[in-house]
Amino acid sequence: MSLESLPKEVAGGDVTAYRRALGAFATGVCVVTADSSLGPLGITINSFTSVSLTPRLVLWCLDERSERWQAFCEAERFSIHVLDAQSEALARRFAKGIGLMEAHEFQRVGDAPPRLGAAAARFDCKTHDRVQMGDHMMIIGEVTGFESSDAAALTYFRGRYGVAGGAQA
Ligand SMILES: Cc1cc2nc3c(=O)[nH]c(=O)nc-3n(C[C@H](O)[C@H](O)[C@H](O)COP(=O)(O)O)c2cc1C
Repeated sequence: MSLESLPKEVAGGDVTAYRRALGAFATGVCVVTADSSLGPLGITINSFTSVSLTPRLVLWCLDERSERWQAFCEAERFSIHVLDAQSEALARRFAKGIGLMEAHEFQRVGDAPPRLGAAAARFDCKTHDRVQMGDHMMIIGEVTGFESSDAAALTYFRGRYGVAGGAQA
């Protein structure tokens, strides 16, 4: 579909139309975990991006309206879990409420951030920089370790979960 086929340019102030336009960008889904003064926390995000290969830098963006704002802004280390196709329930679980993890929901490996049991990939990060942009904080992490698998991925497109890769693609 070309831009010419869009019905009309949407007025700048139309928030719903703007959100709908952003939702046309199909993404993966991640859960970011970190330790906080409240305990181990998780949050569902789709703003994950690779920034630099050398050094290895990635970023994600945190909404200032999130209850988890302070905890994730203060975290010096965090892990980004790219969810596999089986993990829609995890995505839903960490998209609401405070996101405080119960003991059975994560594993401890040394002094690394709390680790989810399953993921298509995981990036362990130490916070490299934080840059406030409008109503979000861009949190940039230096990747200190990672793991990945061939698992199919959970996706998010126009407000719905889906699957990419694997036998179901
Ligand atoms: C698929 C999906 C992607 C999301 N991506 C982000 C994101 O990139 N950044 C963010 O701050 N919140 C994101 N959210 C919203 C958070 O998961 C959470 O619902 C929101 O911050 C409200 O949190 P609160 O209960 O702490 O206020 C996303 C939610 C979903 C379902």
